[in-house]
Amino acid sequence: MTLEPIARAIASMARECATPGCGKVVEKPLACPTCVKIGLPPTYFCGQTCFKSNWKNHKGIHKIARQLIDAQGGDDAHRKAPPDGVTCEPDAPPEVRLGLPTWAKSYTFTGPTLRPALVSPKRILPSHIRRPDYADHVAGASMTEQRDRATNNAIRVYGSDELDGDYGLRHACAMGREVLDIAGNALRVGVTTDEIDRIVHEACIERDVYPSPLNYYNFPKSVCTSVNEVICHGIPDYREIEDGDIVNIDVTVFNKGGYHGDLNGTFVEITYHFLHCSCKRWAVPPILVLDKSIAGAWLAYLVHELGRFVSFLTCRSFLSFLFCFCSAETFCVGKVDEDGQLLVKTAFDCLANALAMVKPGTLYRDLGSTIHRTAVKSGCAVNRTYCGHGIGSLFHTAPNVPHYHKNKAKGIMKPGHVFTVEPMINLGTFQDKTWGDNWTAVTADGKRSAQFEHTVLVTATGCEILTARDSEPVMEWKQELNHR
Ligand code: MF3
Ligand code: CO
Ligand code: CO
Repeated sequence: MTLEPIARAIASMARECATPGCGKVVEKPLACPTCVKIGLPPTYFCGQTCFKSNWKNHKGIHKIARQLIDAQGGDDAHRKAPPDGVTCEPDAPPEVRLGLPTWAKSYTFTGPTLRPALVSPKRILPSHIRRPDYADHVAGASMTEQRDRATNNAIRVYGSDELDGDYGLRHACAMGREVLDIAGNALRVGVTTDEIDRIVHEACIERDVYPSPLNYYNFPKSVCTSVNEVICHGIPDYREIEDGDIVNIDVTVFNKGGYHGDLNGTFVEITYHFLHCSCKRWAVPPILVLDKSIAGAWLAYLVHELGRFVSFLTCRSFLSFLFCFCSAETFCVGKVDEDGQLLVKTAFDCLANALAMVKPGTLYRDLGSTIHRTAVKSGCAVNRTYCGHGIGSLFHTAPNVPHYHKNKAKGIMKPGHVFTVEPMINLGTFQDKTWGDNWTAVTADGKRSAQFEHTVLVTATGCEILTARDSEPVMEWKQELNHR
């Protein structure tokens, strides 16, 4: 990263007052607060007088640093601050809260109905919670990540002291798991994604962890919530969850020991309607009605009752005559959407099958073939823009873990490596597009996308899912856990 020379020059002056010609050795250092905010190493002045007299000169450094950060392209090109005109107070009238942000008024959306709403003001954290370096950077840039990317592409090996310490990596991952479960359990039709953000933010405070997304490259909220055609990086806003939505919640936390743990899950919003009928399976087989509308459900129910009546007219024995009336059975009529469920289950299987390959000696690039095969079997496509990543002291670091086949990722798994796998699976095209908020990634055809993510550790014999629930060390599909 091009800020390095400036940073080094400033660091070398650290013991001396930064005002040219002053030359005093700084005893009680007064660090320039703007440098600290931008993420530059602190510049010291011997006192207020020197700081003030040198201010005009010194502030030029801030300008250059900011320009360099803005000009930065490459991998971080999509990481830009959201534009203005997107925020309002929670008590604003609904037509304001649910109005389109300025950028969206002239934007061509790919999907049929999902639109952004306004966003609540930035949430704050008590000062005792340890903050990652980007938390107070004007551009949300992480200097530690950028230095790492410029100087090092080796994959770090974590030892048991870093993993098992009181506030080690395992602890960060366990906290992330708790927070995701709380957020997932709060999902209901009518709940806003902003409310999910508040719940995540408060659950983090209760656990003394920082919600890693907050201000990461200026991401404005404490969690990512990605609904329907949103692939990832959805910004929580005042839109309410609707019946039939699929919702991904992506939680990352940063603990007191300085470690991140990252995981996500996709939830299906289905309201079940229950109708009762009075027959036994063997008298007239009850029909399980899977229909999108309640009118369709009632129609199917009437057909069913008619069948029962015919059975009564034709029944041959006294026993079956009795059962036509005397017993009750419940069958459910739900708003069940087969495509949506297939998509969510496929995304889960993609992650499970990839994790089954994690062990020393596996090439990082080979995970993509398994994920691709699993997705294609169900007629789904794999996103190519966003990848899994090394994680630990840094939010995103080596290795890069693509989810698509025929990728050229570098690296071979070794015990002690910690990384995420987080395949994003689409019902239609693999291609994506970014909304005018500079964050939200959506499918190019507006069809839905689903994702699951875990942070894992390579062990001597295989893989340990650090973000798993204690009760489920291996991935097993349980529909009830992902339905609301
Ligand atoms: N949690 C995401 C991941 O899995 C990253 C979110 S970055 C944010 O890598 F800034 F959007 F929060
Ligand atoms: Co994540
Ligand atoms: Co991740």
